[in-house]
Amino acid sequence: MQVDQKPQRVISGSKGLQRARLAIQAGDIVAFSTETVYGLGADATNNQAVAKIFKTKGRPRFNPLIVHVLNENDAKNLVSWNTAANKLARAFWPGPLTLVLPRLPGCKVSFLASAGLDTLAIRVPSHNLARKLLSSTDCPIAAPSANKFGRMSPTTALHVDEEFGPELTLILDGGPCALGLESTVVDLTTKRPVLLRPGSITNEEIGAVIGPIATATQHSKIKSPGMLDRHYAPKASLRLNVNAPVDGEVLVGFGPLAPDGAVNLSPAGDLLEAATNFFSTLRELDSAGNKKLAIMPIPTSGLGFAINDRLKRAASDA
Ligand code: TXA
Ligand code: MG
Repeated sequence: MQVDQKPQRVISGSKGLQRARLAIQAGDIVAFSTETVYGLGADATNNQAVAKIFKTKGRPRFNPLIVHVLNENDAKNLVSWNTAANKLARAFWPGPLTLVLPRLPGCKVSFLASAGLDTLAIRVPSHNLARKLLSSTDCPIAAPSANKFGRMSPTTALHVDEEFGPELTLILDGGPCALGLESTVVDLTTKRPVLLRPGSITNEEIGAVIGPIATATQHSKIKSPGMLDRHYAPKASLRLNVNAPVDGEVLVGFGPLAPDGAVNLSPAGDLLEAATNFFSTLRELDSAGNKKLAIMPIPTSGLGFAINDRLKRAASDA
């Protein structure tokens, strides 16, 4: 009998952490859990390591990555800080908020990570394992969501493994992501802050701290290519705001009005629960071979805004 000598791909605990640290320090890529979605990480200061992220993800090089750091001080070593950043960081870091700020002169993050822009998207994650990885590697970690370009973000280690297979040799398993939707991205390089990507922190929550912010227009598509029309897409086709599915469609329900027995993002109609279940539910329906999904209406307030944003992009054929 042949014994498989290959080290396990999905690994947790202190053993996993140690392998992940060594891999990052050696310039390799490692997938790891955060509170939002799994990230595909590498040392942000190492050009070759960052290039591996783009290659593995199949991501166009004009699309910059988020850089993760341990705390506000580490952020201040990389980007030029301002009052809005101060207020938002105090309110939401560590947590699912990404701030786009000007790179400091001499900022040691690879220009590849910021796709040649003079700005950097930065965030301080709250997930315990992500934080342990950041403190043990002692470097900023560039990490987009750990999915192939254009596909849904993964919220479990298994999803990451299904996405990349042997192409990715190390996935640091910190369990299912508590939030399930990516971080909110806010551009603080303009006079008035602009929401580039709706996410786990709602517009209302941000507004309560720095006042109302502008939402991205068509023009900012290039600025934050994560705003591309078709994105976050399952293989199945999606039809939105459906109450009565037609033949051949699987209904994805929301709230108590969904028929009994239907797949339901949140039977209680709780948007946080729906956000947490969102990508994993679409992924599981996809894996089961369903070709047509019909999604019940989801309110657009609070977290529903980000969920509807993902749904629109997932359904887009542009
Ligand atoms: O929750 C998250 O944010 C996850 C976890 C792993 O942290 N990461 C994530 O990364 O979703 P990614 O690469 O899939 O999305 C990053 C978004 C993209 O929309 C990108 O265009 C935008 O942030 N972005 C990055 N750097 C930027 C910059 N300098 N200016 C404008 N937008 C930027
Ligand atoms: Mg992504």
